[in-house]
Amino acid sequence: MSLTLRVYVPSHPLIKHWLSVARDESTPTVLFRSAMTELGRWLTYEATRDWLPTTESEVQTPLAPCPATFIDPEVPIVVVPILRAGLALLDGAQALLPLASIYHVGLVRNEETLEASCYLNKLPEQMPPGTRVLVTDPMLATGGSSHSLLKLLVERGVDPALIRIVAVVAAPQALQLLGADFPALSIFTAAIDEGLNDRGYIVPGLGDAGDRTFGT
Ligand code: URA
Repeated sequence: MSLTLRVYVPSHPLIKHWLSVARDESTPTVLFRSAMTELGRWLTYEATRDWLPTTESEVQTPLAPCPATFIDPEVPIVVVPILRAGLALLDGAQALLPLASIYHVGLVRNEETLEASCYLNKLPEQMPPGTRVLVTDPMLATGGSSHSLLKLLVERGVDPALIRIVAVVAAPQALQLLGADFPALSIFTAAIDEGLNDRGYIVPGLGDAGDRTFGT
């Protein structure tokens, strides 16, 4: 069976709203941060729909026994924010996945070569089989950072079919790179934009997500 990268652009009005707030260059830092938190929340909601493992049991209501569905506490759920900008989506993701373990990975891209290099890796040596990993990386421009992280995750035993990336804006270049090497992956993004400028920024995009989040 051949797999193809699955890319979802949810049409939820709240996602469109917060994306527009984030794109607007006049949005001040505090509001930009709120917009990213909301995008993290709603995109995580969409990304976890058919991905969170559940167990079936029964509860007793005040009136009668009733079939019940709970999140399976045995299956590890992990969130990996790619520093720096991935932190902007973390609060929203964590609001929905309060018991998830958070492993920080710092990747910085060389502004000339646009290659990503890793300066912080808090991933464990090995992840248990079946671990679900949600990656937060708001701007999938060349896709280099997410590609590097996916290699690290696969080396640690994670099945790419159980990895979901939550992004805010994706460029076709990133989708092509990630789809070529990780076809089982799923991406949830608020928008797919036209492409990149000569400095590797997404156009129209929203500018530098890290700078706008942290006011630098
Ligand atoms: N990183 C950003 O923050 N913005 C872009 O447009 C591309 C990479």
